[in-house]
Amino acid sequence: MTPEPATKDSLLALLQPHGQEHLLHFWDQLDEAARQRLATQLLAVDWASMDSWIRDYVQKEPDTALPPNLEPAPHYPLAPRSPAEAAIYDGARRRGETLLHEGHVAGFMVAGGQGTRLGYDGPKGTFPISPLRQKTLFQLFAESLVRAQAKYGAAIPWFIMTSPGNDAATRTFFKEHAFFGLKPDDVFFFTQGTMPAIGLDGKILLQAPDSLALSPNGHGGSLLALRQSGALDRMRKRNIQHLSYWQVDNPLVQMVDPLFIGLHDLTNSDLSSRGLVKTGPTEKLGNYCQVNGKLTIIEYSDMPEALAAAKGPDGRLRFRIGSPAIHVLRRDFIERLTEGGRLSLPLHRAVKKVPCVDEQGAPAKSHHPNAVKLEMFIFDALPLANHPLILEADRAEQFAPVKNPTGVDSVESSQRLQQERAIRWLEAAGVTVPRQPNGALDGTLELSPRRFLDRDDVVAAGPTLAAPLPGAATVYE
Ligand code: UTP
Repeated sequence: MTPEPATKDSLLALLQPHGQEHLLHFWDQLDEAARQRLATQLLAVDWASMDSWIRDYVQKEPDTALPPNLEPAPHYPLAPRSPAEAAIYDGARRRGETLLHEGHVAGFMVAGGQGTRLGYDGPKGTFPISPLRQKTLFQLFAESLVRAQAKYGAAIPWFIMTSPGNDAATRTFFKEHAFFGLKPDDVFFFTQGTMPAIGLDGKILLQAPDSLALSPNGHGGSLLALRQSGALDRMRKRNIQHLSYWQVDNPLVQMVDPLFIGLHDLTNSDLSSRGLVKTGPTEKLGNYCQVNGKLTIIEYSDMPEALAAAKGPDGRLRFRIGSPAIHVLRRDFIERLTEGGRLSLPLHRAVKKVPCVDEQGAPAKSHHPNAVKLEMFIFDALPLANHPLILEADRAEQFAPVKNPTGVDSVESSQRLQQERAIRWLEAAGVTVPRQPNGALDGTLELSPRRFLDRDDVVAAGPTLAAPLPGAATVYE
């Protein structure tokens, strides 16, 4: 049975208690299709929470005072420091390999962001990023998964979170490229939720006469979207126990790392995270901290300068471990967090310039930030997790984010880091890589992830790999 279409009266009854009737200002001028578009958006808003969000995040600035007893979080080091630790790491790696081999691990990538800083028109995953072949982010991940599945002898289902704005384009891109060799049944797209932008006067904004000003609700929204889309059910049916999480903008990420997955599993961790030694006190990474024994992340923007720069007795930064947004989550944990179809994570506010309409329905010109956008962040699940852990990652091997067109975390820096890793892997395999007098690579290099998932793959192929010619563009496929 199709539900009754919403009427103006039924919507007014919904909006009036929240003082948001202005959202129907253009109703009488809209045709039926436009009315129902707007009605669908209005009915999807979490009205039970809206008044408190407006009160707590728009009408006042939330209290961001840091707890006085903030401590650096403990972490597992990159390499074991003792024979006992080495035994733990060996056992964890074996456990991770078994979990992968038995098909209990899925990939979970968030790709719903708007990529504003990169200024690229299209889903960020369709951005070409490999130095020579210009493979897109999606292609690099897909090819790596093809190789990982062969390596572990099992399917590794891939859950990709899109947003309403880029879902169709993302699906089309995968279809057009025949899923880059993955089985379509192993790739599952789901769309994240949205949040309306709220004007500084507490009124939700219309972006058009028949549409709220909606934007994705942050990567934290992925947890609820996993439940609402049926992805969690699908995982349960396939006996997936752990989700290996990464962001669409890091082409160097090791998508499924047996050591990390095994350590997470053996320690009964609900949510495990990789940590990087920060390049300095102001690097734009969240800081891993501990408050009253609970692990938490304090964003770089909320960390007072003095605390960020504080040094320990060893002369190193006290808060030196930052987050590259690489995690493993237990499926049971996500089920628990989203029980009853609700997710309680704190919201983060950003005051932004948001396009909206004026009284006549024409685009309003705003030269100043005019609205609050609210987002949830996945790392806010850390204090809710049992036995969370942090495992240090090797920055050069795993982190080359593409956030900006130029400068820090840019296309240029990412491509350089991709090449530097390729050089290290080739040299580890005994291949002589030509260098310029200043030590830089003489030429351009690319390793195809379809064949070379990790250093071991290159080392194993070492004797068969010809050295690159000086000044040449060399692709190893
Ligand atoms: P960023 O915080 O870098 O945001 O996202 P962004 O939207 O990609 O880029 P800017 O800030 O507008 O320039 C980090 C990761 O989280 C995903 C992004 O796709 C990226 O993988 N993300 C972010 C979502 O999936 N949904 C969101 O609502 C926000």
